[in-house]
Amino acid sequence: MAVSYATQVLLLIFLTTLHFNVIMAAAMTCGEKERNALLRFKHGLADPSSRLSSWSDKEDCCTWLGIICNNITGKVIEINLDTPVGSPYRELSGEISPSLLELKSLIRLDLSSNYFVLTPIPNFLGSMESLRYLDLSLSGFMGLIPHQLGNLSSLQHLNLGYNYALQIDNLNWISRLSSLEYLDLSGSDLHKQVDWFQVLSALPSLSELHLENCQIDNLGPPKGKTNFTHLQVLDLSNNNLNQEIPSCLSNLNTTLVQLDLHNNLLQGEIPKSISNLQNIKILDLQGNQLSGALPDSLGQLKNLEVLDVGNNTITYPIPSSFANLSSLRTLNLAHNKLNGTIPKSFGSLKNLQVLNLGANSLTGDMPLTLGTLSDLVTLDLSSNFLEGSVKEINFVRLLSLKELRLSSTNLFLSINSGWIPPFELEYALLSSCIVGPKFPEWLRKQSSIKVLTMSKTGIADLVPSWFWNWTLQVDFLDLSNNLLNGDLSNTFLNSSFINLSSNLFKGEMPSVSANVEVLNIANNSISGTISPFLCDKTNATNKLSVLDVSNNVLSGDLGNCWVHWQALVHLNLGGNNLSGEIPNSIGHMSQLVSLLLDDNNFSGHIPSMMQNCSTLKFIDMGNNQLSDTIPAWMWEMQYLMVLRLRSNNFNGSITQKMCQLSSLIVLDLANNSLSGSIPNCLDDMKTMAGVDDFFTNPLSYSYGSDFSYNNYKESLVLVPKGDELEYKDNLILVRMVDLSSNMLSGAIPPEISKLSALRFLNLSKNNLSGEIPKDMGKMILLESLDLSLNHISGEIPQSLSDLSFLSFLNLSYNNLSGRIPTSTQLQSFEALSYTGNLELCGPPVTNNCTSKEELSEGTSVGHSDEKFFGTSEFYIGMGVGFAAGFWGVCSLIFFNRTWRHAYFHFLCYLRYLIYVTIVLKVRRLFTTL
Ligand SMILES: *[C@@H]1O[C@H](CO)[C@@H](O)[C@H](O)[C@H]1NC(C)=O
Ligand SMILES: *[C@@H]1O[C@H](CO)[C@@H](O)[C@H](O)[C@H]1NC(C)=O
Ligand SMILES: *[C@@H]1O[C@H](CO)[C@@H](O)[C@H](O)[C@H]1NC(C)=O
Ligand SMILES: *[C@@H]1O[C@H](CO)[C@@H](O)[C@H](O)[C@H]1NC(C)=O
Ligand SMILES: *[C@@H]1O[C@H](CO)[C@@H](O)[C@H](O)[C@H]1NC(C)=O
Ligand SMILES: *[C@@H]1O[C@H](CO)[C@@H](O)[C@H](O)[C@H]1NC(C)=O
Repeated sequence: MAVSYATQVLLLIFLTTLHFNVIMAAAMTCGEKERNALLRFKHGLADPSSRLSSWSDKEDCCTWLGIICNNITGKVIEINLDTPVGSPYRELSGEISPSLLELKSLIRLDLSSNYFVLTPIPNFLGSMESLRYLDLSLSGFMGLIPHQLGNLSSLQHLNLGYNYALQIDNLNWISRLSSLEYLDLSGSDLHKQVDWFQVLSALPSLSELHLENCQIDNLGPPKGKTNFTHLQVLDLSNNNLNQEIPSCLSNLNTTLVQLDLHNNLLQGEIPKSISNLQNIKILDLQGNQLSGALPDSLGQLKNLEVLDVGNNTITYPIPSSFANLSSLRTLNLAHNKLNGTIPKSFGSLKNLQVLNLGANSLTGDMPLTLGTLSDLVTLDLSSNFLEGSVKEINFVRLLSLKELRLSSTNLFLSINSGWIPPFELEYALLSSCIVGPKFPEWLRKQSSIKVLTMSKTGIADLVPSWFWNWTLQVDFLDLSNNLLNGDLSNTFLNSSFINLSSNLFKGEMPSVSANVEVLNIANNSISGTISPFLCDKTNATNKLSVLDVSNNVLSGDLGNCWVHWQALVHLNLGGNNLSGEIPNSIGHMSQLVSLLLDDNNFSGHIPSMMQNCSTLKFIDMGNNQLSDTIPAWMWEMQYLMVLRLRSNNFNGSITQKMCQLSSLIVLDLANNSLSGSIPNCLDDMKTMAGVDDFFTNPLSYSYGSDFSYNNYKESLVLVPKGDELEYKDNLILVRMVDLSSNMLSGAIPPEISKLSALRFLNLSKNNLSGEIPKDMGKMILLESLDLSLNHISGEIPQSLSDLSFLSFLNLSYNNLSGRIPTSTQLQSFEALSYTGNLELCGPPVTNNCTSKEELSEGTSVGHSDEKFFGTSEFYIGMGVGFAAGFWGVCSLIFFNRTWRHAYFHFLCYLRYLIYVTIVLKVRRLFTTL
């Protein structure tokens, strides 16, 4: 025993010494030459966070940060100076010294994620023959990639991806890298390299090829075989490939594991031969223009773990063969046109974690089998035509579910109040499906919810007492458009986005934490005074950027506390019983874009401090009792798009300065006591004159980075044709001037006819005199024209008959005379439109024109009328008919409060564009005739 103990001790000592010796040997071998080379390399670099502080001539270079030596020869074999995200160090920059050439054994050089901005990749790297691994990605290099790199015959890994404008003049140098296994040139422009695929496919050892964002539009001429005998990963995402999925890819059948073609312009069907890729695990075809059906043969890909075909235009039902994809973890088929039902056989996809079938045309119910997928984390069935009830049993084994999206389906969540869900959701998106009429009690047991949307779910119930406390954890809360009731008086809200609008909430204003960014409680019955809410000191550090309490029954004055609310961008207090003056402190809100105070009892004048709110685009103070003149600075608010001051007691005149409002789309000053004449510079108002962009809507904002579909859109009640209508999605298309019911005098300035984008013009009930400007027919989009109850004289200009959009006309009670110009347009209005003008004659009024007028009309107009009568009648008829059809569809959407679906909006929009094109064409035809 003792002997053996002694031997053991000896052996131990022997081994320890041996080990020590080996370490000593390793530690002493950093050669002076290599150390000096590295010090010179350090010298060329800028190292803001002193990462290279261990690089000193007193230390063994093998112990320096980022350096690895061969443990036998002591030669430097690796330099690892990348700066990945989360690294404690800042990026290196400066110059890469050729002293590196002294490191004859260097195998690996990693300088990725640094900041060598605007430096070219040094040519001498091509002489470092021992290199097997070179990573210069994400480091800002620019210029031509040196062909010398082609000399690195041992190179196995080359990553030059995502630099700053690296140029590649040709790829032939790469074909010499016969050992290359990994190549990443992402972010370089390859679109001129038509033969890139051919050149690269000659690399016999290549197993990973990353060419993201290379502006490639083509795989080049079709080739039978490729030499890619080892290719496992092919990433061509974010290019411009606009062809069918290349069949040559299916020759990579034995090796390919990952094929990423997302965000290209690929067309046609997914080829059946894709099933040749027997080893594929990740197939990403998201964001292309693929059409047709999903091939049955996809079901043969037994190893497939991720299949992403989202954002294409795939039609037909999901093949039942998908049930065989037993390795599948992620299936994304969202944003296609799939129809048919969700296959019951999906229940066999036991490894599924993400199932996204949103935004398709799927019908039928939610199969019970989905409820057995115990690994499922995300289930998205939203925006489909699914129907039927969803019960507890539908979720029976969804133990891992975190994200449930059933919005915009006709599914009915028929769940008992005592249910304890098997999951802990983080996202519950249930808007526009049926959750009510009872409040869903099961939510109470969900303590991790960050996002809850239950807008338009038919809940007609008292909000339970636990709920508001429960929402303290919720970040995004949308309960709008239900029949929820309850008293908000003592509630405390903490979510950053809160939409409780259009319910039956009552009581006083809730209190909010400093966390809240959007609070929308419009269209409820909130009462009491608003100033305690506004002046509460605890709100002083508020981030609130949207406050909408419109259409409640709030009363009292505004206090003078706007200094607390400097983050506000959108403020809507319209439609309450608020009174008193608008306080000066409103000027503290220097970021304000929209200020809506309409339909209250505010009095006094517009405070001068408000001119600090210079970013305002949208001002609505209509229907109050504001008085005094419209302040001159208001005409200098250069971003102003909507100015609605109708139905107040403003007096004074409209100055020439008004024409500086070049972004204005709505000017509604009706029903005040404004006097003087209409400025004669209207043609300076560029947006009204039709010089603008229809496609961007600066009147809507998105809030919540994850939930950009919850747009906040401005709306506005206007009186375009004698009736009040609410505009929202379509507001950006409106161009309106309403100066009616004032005391304006003088003539209508002829410049008004330059406002060719104007749709609604109302100058009625003033003291205007003079004639109707001759060229008003050039306002081709005019739909509504009201000049009634003025003292306008003279004849109706012939050009008015060109207004083929016109659907509302009132010229009554003026001093107009002569024959009403003949056209399908002007005769289609009732005589009422012309009544009260004693000397007007001809249809539709009953007053016959005298033979004298008949004669003069006949000679001046009749001839040209006859000249193109045959064709013009046809085209005018078509114009009117088309206009009627257009409004048939669009007016419903434009004016119906409940029917504002984006899709229809878009359709409508298209029609609008087509319509305008046709009108313009028809008009061109006229002028050439
Ligand atoms: C020496 O290096 C080789 C390969 O780099 C490694 O496998 C081995 O464990 C190292 N030996 C010691 C003693 O560090
Ligand atoms: C494939 O490789 C062979 C030999 O390795 C070579 O002769 C042939 O030209 C290559 N084909 C292509 C298309 O590069
Ligand atoms: C791969 O495809 C070739 C023809 O393209 C075929 O001969 C071969 O059998 C396929 N191999 C597998 C494993 O599917
Ligand atoms: C579809 O594309 C849009 C934008 O191109 C993107 O934001 C969205 O995430 C994509 N949807 C899916 C389901 O992949
Ligand atoms: C599915 O869509 C295709 C192509 O649009 C159509 O031919 C087919 O009738 C549709 N099937 C069902 C069940 O709606
Ligand atoms: C609200 O929640 C807190 C803990 O989060 C708890 O202590 C408190 O009792 C709750 N209040 C009500 C009214 O449920």
